[in-house]
Amino acid sequence: MSIQITPQAEVRELTRLERCAAHSHIRGLGLDDALEPRKGGSQGMVGQPKARRAVGVIYKMIQEGKIGGRAILLAGKPGSGKTAIAMGLAQELGSDTPFTTMSGSEVFSLEMSKTEALTQAFRKSIGIRILEETEVIEGEVVEIQVDTALNKGNMDKTGRLTLCTTEMETVYDLGTKMIDALQKEKVSAGDVITIDKASGKITKLGRSFSRSRDYDAMGGQTRFVQCPEGELQKRKEVVHTVSLHEIDVINSRQQGFLALFTGDTGEIKGEVREQIDLKVAEWREEGRATIVPGVLFIDEVHMLDMECFSFLNRALESDMAPVLVIATNRGISKIRGTDYKSPHGIPLDLLDRLMIVSTEAYKPDEVQSILKVRCEEEDVEMAEDALELLTRIGMETSLRYAIQMVIAASLVAEKRKSAEVEIQDIKRVYTLFVDVKRSTQFLMEYQNEYMYNELGEGEDEEDSSDDEDSNDEKPDEAGNSSDVAMES
Ligand SMILES: Nc1ncnc2c1ncn2[C@@H]1O[C@H](COP(=O)(O)OP(=O)(O)O)[C@@H](O)[C@H]1O
Ligand SMILES: [Mg+2]
Repeated sequence: MSIQITPQAEVRELTRLERCAAHSHIRGLGLDDALEPRKGGSQGMVGQPKARRAVGVIYKMIQEGKIGGRAILLAGKPGSGKTAIAMGLAQELGSDTPFTTMSGSEVFSLEMSKTEALTQAFRKSIGIRILEETEVIEGEVVEIQVDTALNKGNMDKTGRLTLCTTEMETVYDLGTKMIDALQKEKVSAGDVITIDKASGKITKLGRSFSRSRDYDAMGGQTRFVQCPEGELQKRKEVVHTVSLHEIDVINSRQQGFLALFTGDTGEIKGEVREQIDLKVAEWREEGRATIVPGVLFIDEVHMLDMECFSFLNRALESDMAPVLVIATNRGISKIRGTDYKSPHGIPLDLLDRLMIVSTEAYKPDEVQSILKVRCEEEDVEMAEDALELLTRIGMETSLRYAIQMVIAASLVAEKRKSAEVEIQDIKRVYTLFVDVKRSTQFLMEYQNEYMYNELGEGEDEEDSSDDEDSNDEKPDEAGNSSDVAMES
């Protein structure tokens, strides 16, 4: 089987708008060259200096391509910036390093098995930089001649293309396809173009300097280039970076019609992956490909079960493993699907391999700075005293609740035609939307009027009821007896 590396169709990527929005103010880790957190917040990052320093070290190691197969656990209370720090790392690494984000609960999908979902996530996080030499024809267009002839009712186009370099000139015969391509690219005499010999793809590099005086009026974006030197035919090195998963998808699509039925990718056959791994190993030996280990970030990792954890254990040992970053807000709690309790809800054998970075609760001035950054991000003007009140609310309820109040308060302010959010707007929103504490209190008072109310039966509830960001912030009285809340 020959392995194909360039996608025929665009590989569709799922972007998670919702989560991006919550962290859209994060533009990096905010570290200086010595990997020290810059004073007073930078790149949207505030406080949490220890964790940022630690992740900075990881960043450096990844960037130098030195590590793979390591795992880092971000542990801390809800809303202490674990996801934010991971997003900062992603931003810092830039688009050249694969960074895959998923939530622990995502593996429980009906379309594929848990291990398949994790395998795909792992392989999305490993980039392969492939060096290819292609033959191109590069020269300045001297003349394009097209003859059309009517042949059995079809328009047949034939033609000749004259290309030159500073040293030589050659005439090429053209078929219909090439003529169409030239016309599509609007190539005319005086353009400097390259034609990929294998694919026939035409790229316009610009207009030749020698023609710059032919026309008086030309678009501002016209780029002038030198007429190429030497031979018309050249070898060029091109570099593609694709993820292992992309290579998997491209090569399994060709394989069978089944891909049509199981959504976009479905499960990818083990044999396909094996062959691809062999091929990649071959390319590496020949010096045609290098591995770019990226990052796989699994948020809310306590949602994984025993099977997934043991898969992670093994996957980390593969020689093409990415760096695994996981995050959890659990203390000592049950490992999903078992009755065993373990720190962070993670089995001890995996914990043993982790470097643990803990995030700390924010101080009032940090909460205030984060809220300020969010106001800027959401284009909200806020009065000084209103911000102070919001900070107090953030300290007493939760940072997330306060962040969510920003946009709501600005809408309330807008309604009374004020350009600035003032205390009264914050107060109004505070009465309109209750936070978890008040809601719980309400539930305690009026429990009998609700369905499924189990308070007082003394049973601790299953983890699976809360998955993501929405209701992490359970106060202790709301049934957290099985999970020891994270402090310190
Ligand atoms: N250090 C920080 N600097 C800037 N924004 C932060 C910081 N920590 C948290 N945030 C913001 O606060 C909100 C909650 O933080 P998040 O990272 O989701 O918490 P966690 O994942 O630990 O539960 C997010 O909108 C996040 O972007
Ligand atoms: Mg989070």
